[in-house]
Amino acid sequence: MKPKLLIVDDDEEIQTQMKWALSPDYDIVLAEDGAGALENFKAAQPVATLLDLGLPPNPNSSEEGLATLSGLLAIEKNAKIIVISGQEEKKNAIQAVGAGAYDFLCKPVDIEELKLILHRCIYVRNLENEYREMERKLRPVVFEDMLGTSPQMQGVFAFIRKVATTDAPVLLLGESGTGKEMAALAIHRRGSRKDGPFIAINCNAIPENLLESELFGHEKGAFTGAHMQRKGLMESAGGGTLFLDEIGELPPPIQVKLLRFLQEQRFQRVGGRQEIQIDTRVIAATNVDLKEAVAKGKFREDLYFRLAVVVIKLPPVRNRGEDVNLLAREFLQQYAAQSEKPALTFAPDALRAIRQHSWPGNVRELQNRIKRAVIMADGKRVTASDLELADSTEIVPAATLKEARENVERELVEQALKKHSGRISSAAAELGVSRPTLYELMDKLGINRKEADEHTAAPSGKGAAVEAQQ
Ligand SMILES: Nc1ncnc2c1ncn2[C@@H]1O[C@H](COP(=O)(O)OP(=O)(O)OP(=O)(O)O)[C@@H](O)[C@H]1O
Ligand SMILES: [Mg+2]
Repeated sequence: MKPKLLIVDDDEEIQTQMKWALSPDYDIVLAEDGAGALENFKAAQPVATLLDLGLPPNPNSSEEGLATLSGLLAIEKNAKIIVISGQEEKKNAIQAVGAGAYDFLCKPVDIEELKLILHRCIYVRNLENEYREMERKLRPVVFEDMLGTSPQMQGVFAFIRKVATTDAPVLLLGESGTGKEMAALAIHRRGSRKDGPFIAINCNAIPENLLESELFGHEKGAFTGAHMQRKGLMESAGGGTLFLDEIGELPPPIQVKLLRFLQEQRFQRVGGRQEIQIDTRVIAATNVDLKEAVAKGKFREDLYFRLAVVVIKLPPVRNRGEDVNLLAREFLQQYAAQSEKPALTFAPDALRAIRQHSWPGNVRELQNRIKRAVIMADGKRVTASDLELADSTEIVPAATLKEARENVERELVEQALKKHSGRISSAAAELGVSRPTLYELMDKLGINRKEADEHTAAPSGKGAAVEAQQ
């Protein structure tokens, strides 16, 4: 397969000349104007682009050409673009290189020179790609005991590194079992309070009438049964970090007290008058939609904004790509060693089932299933049934070969869409087909295109799965 080359020029003669000269070595894609260039660039993903700076509607100025250049670079920041300009516009060509073009040539173009530049340009592009790939492989797999090489988790790790050194409160969001507590601990360990205590409290696990005194402590005689003064967890976390899990369950009176603490670093013990000043970093976590709780009046908006100075979203396991295999292998190794079955490995059906399952309980579910499977496994292999997962490549009975084929296709397409939260390009990549082919397949199989498109707009489409709010 020849590498694709995009040629953007409105002059038919030049198009023909270049096509003739370059088509033995390249698969040529043509465009006549800026809009066509952007469209064909996205569709063809060429290794390099030749861009005439004088494009319609005003071929005598380089305005449209420069705008197209920045449009192309916005699509792919490392795109290799060689601009072509008239002799008298050399200044603009140099400006284009300053703006990110790879190189420039003046008209009339010397084809041999162009071939040489293209050759070198593709060589540089390949080197860059190899470098990025190597860098990706060298990324740390473990960050403060958290495993993950997916871009999503690498984004989380980078964000934790950044916020750990600040004092800002952090709000961790994520489905259950995604590692919110682990992330809180990582923030603690990476911060200036790492030598202080890390105290975790689950706001949902303590009865409302005890929670206030649990958190803030009480004075002797504050309530029946308060025989002596007692310090709360807030005080115990002095010089360290207080992790408030399931913060959405915090009762309103305690929300007020916590808000005051976040504003002034002071509070009073239950039944006390004395102001206690404590230096504690607060990290909160929840798997419920706090904004919705605010809208419903269940959670104070002012407290929400205090807590959510920085928000980190832990992605669900189904959006972490290959991380699921990495986690599964690690847990298998750990539990197998613990139960003295160190030679255990996954059978192919188990690996398939792990890839296909949607992991609603995330890392915790993965741990639990593997722990159980290690106990259940006979022999040296852990099977899908040891994991209590169905091996879903079993073919659904069908009357005709066509029907059977469609059943399998539907199953695979639906799984890929589910795994990638409806993102067509990722699902297509996983299935090894182009996006248009996937759309065609979905139409043929009656899979709702609109639903998939809606998923595409979901915020999980963001690369790093983290966001900062200030
Ligand atoms: N990236 C990871 N690598 C290795 N182990 C992980 C990772 N993320 C989570 N775990 C493990 O998964 C389990 C669940 O993690 P954790 O308790 O931090 O999740 P959580 O989001 O707080 O869950 P919940 O919502 O149920 O409280 C823990 O045993 C933790 O050690
Ligand atoms: Mg937790």
